[in-house]
Amino acid sequence: MERPASHSELAELSPGLRPGPDGRLAFGGCALADLAAEFGTAAILVDVATLRSTAERYVEATTAIRPNSRVHFATKAFPVPAVVGLMAEAGLYCDVASAGELAIALAGGMPAERILLHGNAKTDLDIGAALEAGIGLIVIDSFDDIDRIERLAERPQPVIVRINPGVLAPTHEAMATGHGESKFGIPNGQVEAAIARAAASPKMEMLGLHVHIGSQILELEPFVESVERIAALGTFDLYDLGGGLGSRYAMDEPVAPSIEDYAEALFGAAAVHLPDESVVAIEPGRSTVAPAGISLYSVVGVKRGDRTFVAIDGGMGDNMETALYGTRFWPAIVDKDGGPERCDVVGHHCETGDRLATDAWLSSPEVGDLLVIPVTGAYCHSMANNYNAMPRPPVIFVEDGDARVAIRRETIADLLGRAT
Ligand code: LLP
Repeated sequence: MERPASHSELAELSPGLRPGPDGRLAFGGCALADLAAEFGTAAILVDVATLRSTAERYVEATTAIRPNSRVHFATKAFPVPAVVGLMAEAGLYCDVASAGELAIALAGGMPAERILLHGNAKTDLDIGAALEAGIGLIVIDSFDDIDRIERLAERPQPVIVRINPGVLAPTHEAMATGHGESKFGIPNGQVEAAIARAAASPKMEMLGLHVHIGSQILELEPFVESVERIAALGTFDLYDLGGGLGSRYAMDEPVAPSIEDYAEALFGAAAVHLPDESVVAIEPGRSTVAPAGISLYSVVGVKRGDRTFVAIDGGMGDNMETALYGTRFWPAIVDKDGGPERCDVVGHHCETGDRLATDAWLSSPEVGDLLVIPVTGAYCHSMANNYNAMPRPPVIFVEDGDARVAIRRETIADLLGRAT
């Protein structure tokens, strides 16, 4: 598509993004220009209606096929108490990967018994916090996890064992986790021993198995394969099939499989391969939050030379996706439809790799324009950083024309606050 998306086409990427009654581009019923005036830029905005309906669709799509199923929101995708709180309200469970994510989930109101802790290098602090909170499940990823739980637990902790299914997911190599070379899971050949140790330990209640093959996966077949592999390891009370469903980021990319298609493929395979009475859990992150979020920036500079660089007041400090995984975003200039121009959208950090879009079509960008990037709800806030001592942007919830701060903007005082 060799032109900017029209304002009404942008809803195909982030459903809350559409022109309001006055023609200005709005999100969750608030004009982007008004949000920028009230909260400043750069900012990550969340359309609460999309977030809620996506969460509800996940619960409906899975329980319709298998009543004894659970959807754990992968907190790492958007670790904000208000986000986890909304997931809890919609009936989801969650997973956390550290004591910090656990604290965020609890602060959001997620009941401890609905929380699961995973991770390949859990410390005493992580496991200690999980035991103290009384969380529902810990995923054993190594024999060191077993040692730690045995040393720290005061009563039997429900656990599941993560296996490596030997499935190479079709995704960026940094996001594939189910193949032989991955650091995750109990190594093949040692799974039976791990299960036996957990089952024999008075400090553990061994409930089942866990598998997660990777992230940003746009084909369903590898998920089905992982169910077949986990089923081959025996009969258990609980199987956790992980997350991984991908999202569409750009107008010229194919539409991602729907939540309903994904649930049908995965739970269809579970019906064939796993015991009927077992609980089947999934851990979606990206697909629950990515389209619900957008990033709003101001254009700070425009350099027209061999290439046209449109520089914004954000970049790899609030969005690492392009630098790390080559994600192609689809930016648009807000409230303008002037002559299209091919541009690179670059950030304000001192690095050439600080670029959020290459060869993007923008409507005659000028200093002071607002620029929006759809589909930034997943892993942008989570991986935001302070490169060049740039404070991180706020997270603003918008709903029915109202907006509220979920995470306030970081200040330079926050940055100095850690120096001694
Ligand atoms: N469960 C486990 C055990 C995981 O490791 C992950 C993600 C998920 C669930 C959620 O997967 P999702 O549904 O979001 O694909 N930093 C990368 C993403 C890495 C994902 C890591 N694990 C990014 O910025 O895109």
